[in-house]
Amino acid sequence: MAKKYLITSALPYVNNILHIGHLIGCLLPSDVYARFCRAMGRDVLYIGGSDEHGTPSEIGAAREGISIEEYVDKYRAKHLDAVRDFKLSFDLYGRTHTKLHEKLIHELFNRLDSLGMIEEKTSRQPYSVNEKKFLADRYVIGTCPKCGYERAYGNECEKCGASLDPDELINPHSAVDPTSPVEMRETKHLYFKLSKMQDKLRAWINSRVGWPKTAIKIANKWLDEGLRDNPITRDLKWGIPVNKPGFEDKVFYVWFDAPWGYVSISQAATDDWASWWKNPDCHYTEFMGKDNVSFHSVFFPAYELAMNDGWKTVDVLKGFNFLNFNGAKVSKSANNGIFLDEALDIAPADCWRYALIASTPETDDTDFTMTRFTEIVNKDLNGLLGNFVSRVCKLTDKNFGLNVPKSNGTDSALAARLDEKIAELTSMLDACEFRKSIAALREIYGIANEYMTAREPWALVKNGDTDGAAAVLNECFQMIDLFARVSAPFIPDTAEKIKNIFGGNHDLSWPTKYEHRIADGEKFIVPENLFTRIEDTLVTKTTNDNVTK
Ligand code: 2FM
Ligand code: ZN
Repeated sequence: MAKKYLITSALPYVNNILHIGHLIGCLLPSDVYARFCRAMGRDVLYIGGSDEHGTPSEIGAAREGISIEEYVDKYRAKHLDAVRDFKLSFDLYGRTHTKLHEKLIHELFNRLDSLGMIEEKTSRQPYSVNEKKFLADRYVIGTCPKCGYERAYGNECEKCGASLDPDELINPHSAVDPTSPVEMRETKHLYFKLSKMQDKLRAWINSRVGWPKTAIKIANKWLDEGLRDNPITRDLKWGIPVNKPGFEDKVFYVWFDAPWGYVSISQAATDDWASWWKNPDCHYTEFMGKDNVSFHSVFFPAYELAMNDGWKTVDVLKGFNFLNFNGAKVSKSANNGIFLDEALDIAPADCWRYALIASTPETDDTDFTMTRFTEIVNKDLNGLLGNFVSRVCKLTDKNFGLNVPKSNGTDSALAARLDEKIAELTSMLDACEFRKSIAALREIYGIANEYMTAREPWALVKNGDTDGAAAVLNECFQMIDLFARVSAPFIPDTAEKIKNIFGGNHDLSWPTKYEHRIADGEKFIVPENLFTRIEDTLVTKTTNDNVTK
């Protein structure tokens, strides 16, 4: 039986419009990898969805004056549009506010409790007097005791960088209702005994291979500092209610329930979910931004390992750095970035997919600009790929008609060069090295262009060497077929268009080597241009729009 591949993409909070940072931080690389695995014939379960709990939804709904359910549905609908528009091939893009998810969390909590891994503790937490509720530290605002800044948060001062506790703030008040004073009150919570997992987790981390340096560093930092028991409940109304007597008015902390969303969404996707999640022979890759790494490298695996129930833990954790836009953080409130409800007005999905994957922040934070976008699209997609396909089809049509000209056998030197690049691309995709994958793909396009430039089929026609021209053009058609296969994980719409040049008759399975699949005389069509050159005026316009909106 084919080995199982489990692939998950971090579940974005449904409190905003998705932007290019979300695309490159988890959605796109996971999709490219899932498409590659499927093309390789692997048995894939690819899961994503909305993280619907936590204070982001609660605060967002209050800001818009609608119920949390309405709020969550509204933003989830927008996220689903992005999933559709950017061709993200999830087996299921699910959600966490479901009965199935609640049932799972209750069962898992009972299991941890029965194993003696849960402890009750009383602590003092910030309480908003007018709103009559406890607040998360982040939602307490007051004057910083260190620098006097008046809008410091209960967990940190963004002005002087001090890390704070809410009871240190002077004149603390609620971020949502600034008229409401905040005082510290006693409340009891349930804690997961994370400290007991220190050795097991260290051994587990040490047994992982293929993680980016940033991810390993984050995990080890937590372990080096010593794991402390962590509270898994909150005094909130919105979330999964705690299923323990005496805690009925509380919910589980969002980061306790959210990663299990991968499991409950898998359960919603297929009855066969356990053949991924309870199978030691399954290969599990998680994709996320670096801000999510501690939760996935420490807390989630600690819960899984503590249960001792054979839960599949992550094999490869791909934690990416951040993508900035024009030198600053992507932010809706600062109107800096490209947001997914507008991106397609600028260029088709495949252009974004390719240019972003070519800019994956793998080793460092990366700056993305419209100039960079334009250069990549114009050079690689419009230049190397689109123009090649167009020239081959048009030149052949003009001189031979709409049938692929006769081959004179495979050019072995060309095949050797392509085979080397196919092997490189395959191993880079297998290792989820996205920038290097794009580099190998670009070289495949480049080899085809060099071949045509060197062989000059137009000159052969002119000089009366019809058979020679036919052989060169045939080779070019074989490479067009290759382009469709190796490009499909990155730019699926374009791959389909290329496939349709030959009537859709050749599958997009992953090639192990360059092969001639197109028969002599096979019919083809001259397609519309695959890409349109992006003009500099668009760059100026988009940049100005961002600045002035
Ligand atoms: O950072 C975020 O947007 C989180 N909602 C990611 C959660 S990932 C998973 F654990 F659900
Ligand atoms: Zn300060």
